[in-house]
Amino acid sequence: MKLKNLKKKVALEALKFIPEKIFVGIGTGSTISYLINFLKNIKNKIKGAVSSSYETTMSLRRNGIKVVKLNSLDCLPLYIDSADEINNNMEMIKGGGAALTREKILASAADEFICIIDETKQVKTLGKFPLPIEVLPMSYRYVMKELKKIGGEVSKRNVITDNNNYILDISKLCILNPLEIENKINNIPGVISVGIFSQRKPDILLVSTKKNVKTFFYK
Ligand code: A5P
Repeated sequence: MKLKNLKKKVALEALKFIPEKIFVGIGTGSTISYLINFLKNIKNKIKGAVSSSYETTMSLRRNGIKVVKLNSLDCLPLYIDSADEINNNMEMIKGGGAALTREKILASAADEFICIIDETKQVKTLGKFPLPIEVLPMSYRYVMKELKKIGGEVSKRNVITDNNNYILDISKLCILNPLEIENKINNIPGVISVGIFSQRKPDILLVSTKKNVKTFFYK
């Protein structure tokens, strides 16, 4: 089965987990773009969405889904997003689409976080996917120097984030202790956020395989 069909299949499955009359937090990426296409079919059942990026906001609006700001809500019942890599301990790398900071805010703010992936995202050890880090532009050369002490190869991505910052990527880093690395990188002045999600892990994981979609509950 083609990768895009695996992504579509898991996105369709996620609809079953969305209660009526709520605002839903929506992530960013190709899996999520399939979810948004399906979401338009139930747009009158939900109150609207909170978006994790400019790209997602545009796509939600094109599909007739109301977008509200996180600050306008007292609570966010649900957040749905994908991941770039996930290990057996439900720790993830996210940020391939450069939206990691807003994604992390929504995942942390939500009462429930559902992660939807195809089976190719499951890994034994995080780090094959380059680890994204959002940094303040004025600090990027200093942060690069500090990151090199951690290991791997650090490069600056040719992108400006929705928050007007830069993205650095660490490739060839074997992340054996995600929580420790997440905290270490978070502590470097100039870092806005790091794409390791080991503190806020998903409550529900949906994984599409060639055969079916598997559901795992962690709450
Ligand atoms: C966006 O910044 C990322 O965190 C995405 O959630 C992640 O890259 C998954 O993207 P795809 O669905 O395109 O694989």
